[in-house]
Amino acid sequence: MATETRSEQQTETKAPNTFEQLIELGRDNGYKLDWFITRETLGDSIEAEADRGGLLLHEIDRAEAAETADWSNNLTGRPRGAIERPAAPRVGNYSIRTKSDVWLKNGAQLYEEAVQRQWSSSVDIPWETIEELPDEIERAECQLATFLTEVEFVAGDVPGKWIAETTPEYYEPRMFLISQIMDEARHMDVFRKRVFANGGGLMGQTTNVALSGGAIDSARDFTEMSARLHISGEGLVLSIFRMGELMSYNEAEKAIYRLAASDESRHVAFGVMHLQYLAQTDPSRAEEIHSYLDEIELGLVIGAGGQNPATRGTASNSALAILLGGGSDPASMAEGENIALAVRQRQVKEYIQRVRVAGFGDRFENGRANAALTEYVNA
Ligand SMILES: [Fe+2]
Ligand SMILES: [Fe+2]
Repeated sequence: MATETRSEQQTETKAPNTFEQLIELGRDNGYKLDWFITRETLGDSIEAEADRGGLLLHEIDRAEAAETADWSNNLTGRPRGAIERPAAPRVGNYSIRTKSDVWLKNGAQLYEEAVQRQWSSSVDIPWETIEELPDEIERAECQLATFLTEVEFVAGDVPGKWIAETTPEYYEPRMFLISQIMDEARHMDVFRKRVFANGGGLMGQTTNVALSGGAIDSARDFTEMSARLHISGEGLVLSIFRMGELMSYNEAEKAIYRLAASDESRHVAFGVMHLQYLAQTDPSRAEEIHSYLDEIELGLVIGAGGQNPATRGTASNSALAILLGGGSDPASMAEGENIALAVRQRQVKEYIQRVRVAGFGDRFENGRANAALTEYVNA
């Protein structure tokens, strides 16, 4: 009742009609009302349409909030489109303030897709379908899952620092990277669960993953990092996940690879779309990008960089051969190696396709690309 009385009194005292009167009312009563201004989007409401996916991030930005300049001086954490406060401290001091350094078309759409396709390793994997496996198969599964747990740690660890380095003017790629880190946390947990789910245990840390993680992390430029992570590392793993049916022994493992592949394809798409934007907007960086691709191709053909579990001579490759061939006897492992060759071929073909989409396919026609790629494709 007391509230009603006070409200009635206020109405009787003064009803402000203009912005100036409102400011005066605030001054008289000790309220700070100078923020209470009209923005150009007032009255321009947006309908959420269920058949188009609801209220989508890429459909809400209006007026200056929708504008992304090629360069930003926003160092203060001001949301894109918000009114500048000159006294704001430079809390961010972001190193990425050039749009082409981080941007991609459809970044908000990729983020929305990530949000819609979240899954849970607790309830979306039919763990009850895992039954006792022959000892060598279980140990190979545990070795591969140990390797993948390490790989997923790198994939979640490395993008993190770039979020805080990017000005909020380019919030879409920032938010996508945040969603990627959530995805990678889930991948880390699902492979860890697989390790223990059937009475196994974590096997040895692989020698090369920490090294390759360090190499990706040493990048001082976002695009360099993205090429090594999204195009190379995640591209290689995606091709393997897509062939997960071949190395699965139950519906749980099939579901793990299928769901992880769906996430990885989004992360790889981010890298491809970013490279494509860069190719279209900053041709001066083309030669530099080709040098990253030179490095990636060495990883594809000889396993340099340590990101590829299908590279011969590694623990994860032997584990793959046992899983693909169905046993650790010489005949089964030889059969597994043959199937692993098909995995490597798929990795190369999918890599070539991604580079073409990104706009750097000229390297496959002008002799720049590693010659051994062709041998893989034709093998
Ligand atoms: Fe992952
Ligand atoms: Fe990933």
